[in-house]
Amino acid sequence: MTNKWGLDTAIIHTAQTPCQKTGAVVSAVVPAVAYAFPDADAVAACVAGQREGTYYGRYGNPTIQTLEEKIAALENGEAALGVSSGMAAISASLLAFLQQGDHVVCTRDVYGGSHKFLTTLAPCYGIQADFVDCTDLAAVKKAFLPQTKVLYLETPSNPCLTVLDITELSRIAHERGITVIVDNTFMTPYLQRPLELGADVVVHSATKYLNGHGDVIAGFIVGKQELIQFMRKHIMGDLGQNLNAWDAFLILRGLKTLGLRVRQHVQNAEAVAQFLEKHPAISRVYYPGLASHPQHELAKRQMAGMGGIVSFEVKGGYEAAKSFINALRLAMISFSLGDPETLVQHPASMTHFSIPPEERAKFNITDGLIRLSTGLEDAKDIIGDLEQALSPLLTAAAAHQ
Ligand SMILES: Cc1ncc(COP(=O)(O)O)c(C=O)c1O
Repeated sequence: MTNKWGLDTAIIHTAQTPCQKTGAVVSAVVPAVAYAFPDADAVAACVAGQREGTYYGRYGNPTIQTLEEKIAALENGEAALGVSSGMAAISASLLAFLQQGDHVVCTRDVYGGSHKFLTTLAPCYGIQADFVDCTDLAAVKKAFLPQTKVLYLETPSNPCLTVLDITELSRIAHERGITVIVDNTFMTPYLQRPLELGADVVVHSATKYLNGHGDVIAGFIVGKQELIQFMRKHIMGDLGQNLNAWDAFLILRGLKTLGLRVRQHVQNAEAVAQFLEKHPAISRVYYPGLASHPQHELAKRQMAGMGGIVSFEVKGGYEAAKSFINALRLAMISFSLGDPETLVQHPASMTHFSIPPEERAKFNITDGLIRLSTGLEDAKDIIGDLEQALSPLLTAAAAHQ
């Protein structure tokens, strides 16, 4: 953030002024697809990008524009593009840099949809990817090929919360002219700003914390103005990946409480991680805020808070994982994250099912792994629910001895 405001103030006030006509404080939803121009020169200038304005709903809209300005400012980027989903943001940003014959180095444990895009759709267009342990800079350097165009990172990663050094990885990528794209979904700009650390492009699933209420699917791409304009006109526009005005309005509304929500998510996640780490039915807890996390020191330098996601390994594999999630009463079995409700999921059979089992094993996505998105409920209630669902596992383990 470059302006003088604190983050909570900036989140609320950036790019948002009362309506000049009515004084309305809240931004209006503009559903219009078509826009009228005073004359032929004005429309030609708008289409050519020489004059500000919207000319057709698939390329943008005034409500979305307000939101894009806000997201760009929060990420400290020149411009942002609102799109129809996190996957639209990921695919559009990759396609902006990749052509037939190009190569991507991607972090190993990445969101299942990103992995699927790079291993199933991208190869159909002659684009190859290698999945590399990006905590190991030497391995990343070794994986770079002459045709590598993008280093794709997700930090902390989904689901194992691996933390990657954005500054160092950007440095070694830039030495070779490689573009760095970072998925900042788990952190939001409230906790981490990858562009300030050297990355070139940030992508978000706004479906998660940015909207924060589980009622919108959306994504954002943040980067240089020229790049965002290229994506708007030639990728998002051509593929029809645009966001709609109503969803933009809901995100504008949700975003106002981002700071409040994120602080509560983080506080709850810390309490949950500490509880789980001491629990005898759990063999491993992944949370960057724990001193036991392998990149705990890096996380403290790079992130303003440790996030709301906790992953952990239940002793007893798939059967134990299943009976644990089936026994939960407050937390819900669900795919998403970053909502007010505590959501739990089993990556091997849900979000990361599309990754072959032998590959999953390399990424530590075992059959006993659970990912928990801590909600905004009282920490004692979340922990109480986990405790009651874990205790039958202890009884079962004792009976087997
Ligand atoms: C880290 C991360 N990135 C991207 C996505 C994709 O987002 P969407 O569902 O909005 O397409 C997800 C979805 O869970 C995610 O967890």
